[in-house]
Amino acid sequence: MSEQRGNFSRVGFILAAAGSAVGLGNLWRFPYTVGNNGGGLFVLIYLLSVIIIAVPVLLAEITLGRHTGKNPVGAFNYIKPGSQWKLVGYMGVISGFMILSYYSVIAGWTVGYFVKAITGGFNGITSAGATASFTAFTSNWWLMIGLLAVFIFLTVYVISRGVSGGIEKYSRILMPVLLGILFLLLIRSLTLKGASKGVVFYLKPDIKALSPSLVIQAMGQAFFSLSLGMGTMITYGSYVSKKENLPSSAAWIAFFDTFIAIMAGFIIFPAIFSQGMSPDQGSGVMFNTLPVLFAKMPAGAIFGPLFFLLLAIAALTSTISILEVPVAYFIDEKKTHRKKTAIFVGLIAFLIGIPSALSQGAVGFLTDLPLFHIGFLDLMNHIWGNLSLSLGAFFIAIFVGHIWKSSNALNEIKSGCEKFTVYGVWSFAIKYIAPVLILLILFGIVL
Ligand code: PFF
Repeated sequence: MSEQRGNFSRVGFILAAAGSAVGLGNLWRFPYTVGNNGGGLFVLIYLLSVIIIAVPVLLAEITLGRHTGKNPVGAFNYIKPGSQWKLVGYMGVISGFMILSYYSVIAGWTVGYFVKAITGGFNGITSAGATASFTAFTSNWWLMIGLLAVFIFLTVYVISRGVSGGIEKYSRILMPVLLGILFLLLIRSLTLKGASKGVVFYLKPDIKALSPSLVIQAMGQAFFSLSLGMGTMITYGSYVSKKENLPSSAAWIAFFDTFIAIMAGFIIFPAIFSQGMSPDQGSGVMFNTLPVLFAKMPAGAIFGPLFFLLLAIAALTSTISILEVPVAYFIDEKKTHRKKTAIFVGLIAFLIGIPSALSQGAVGFLTDLPLFHIGFLDLMNHIWGNLSLSLGAFFIAIFVGHIWKSSNALNEIKSGCEKFTVYGVWSFAIKYIAPVLILLILFGIVL
């Protein structure tokens, strides 16, 4: 690992990786997908996917990254030089561009809503008013493009400052702030009148909701939430010191991320149900319902801005990790300059993001795509956020388990972790359980 690539310190790595994992995936994507898929059953299958499939892949990605000290393309090439495996790395780099493009649109909304909240925009707002205001917001061309630009600019700014000066420094400050604000919101939401109906919806599995699409989305959510399947954790792993205990880091990251997603559900669903609203409103659900809640609750004028600030912070620690994948690829493989590369990648992601930004009401045909009958952003989210990550995770599992071989991975793991007691379980999971289940689920054969 060269000095120029930079390194994380020990706490820095956990914070940065958890910062990557915790984001809009937990606070925006998870609750709305749970809401669209009927509640508790989705949550259950998501949790099973995290434990059985995603956690083994997480350890595989970090280990591969640390061993090779490289970006995803370089990592595959290092172990199997000249082979086609580097295509999996390229797929990750492309997924990075695509996910960054639409993720930054929603991240831009959180900035817009933070400004709305802090300037008193939610004062006395009703449910109909909140929905109308959200529609007007997302229909505004210039605002949508402007907010996308603002968020990509913030991401590029942090990334251009490098690994320890940029990524680590910001994660160190932002992660603890985020946790504190979430706890406050949790207490507020659970003590609302009628909160229990939301808790029941969230926790009670309804077997009738079971479908192949639900299982694909639950597994996709597990990968998305843990930043897996596109090499983000390979890239972050490449900055980790040989003294780091990788299995324990992976366990902490997964625990922290899942804990926050579950907590987000306990914030959102009681809030939705206490307003007598419906949970299956799609990607706008949070932006339609929470302003009403803030308007009605005591100290809402404080909780409102805090919540959207929290979301923007969480999104930023994730977008920087997404951008880092293509940036590390160009720096390592094409020997480019960090700052210029970050600006270049950011600009491309901005341009690709424009149709997503205009797909929530601003442009009719992007909002309701012919053939698909969903918006452009939702289509991107499904293709890149569910399918491409699942496929990527499948190949990474096969590569680490069978090509590099889990016994070689064990040697890397042993540095910093003398006794990896569950090696046998992990090895079996990465070789057989994860790849087989991912394929079966992707092809809808599991049901
Ligand atoms: N894990 C992030 C979230 O939950 O918001 C999103 C994400 C980051 C997805 C990095 C994929 C990725 F590689």
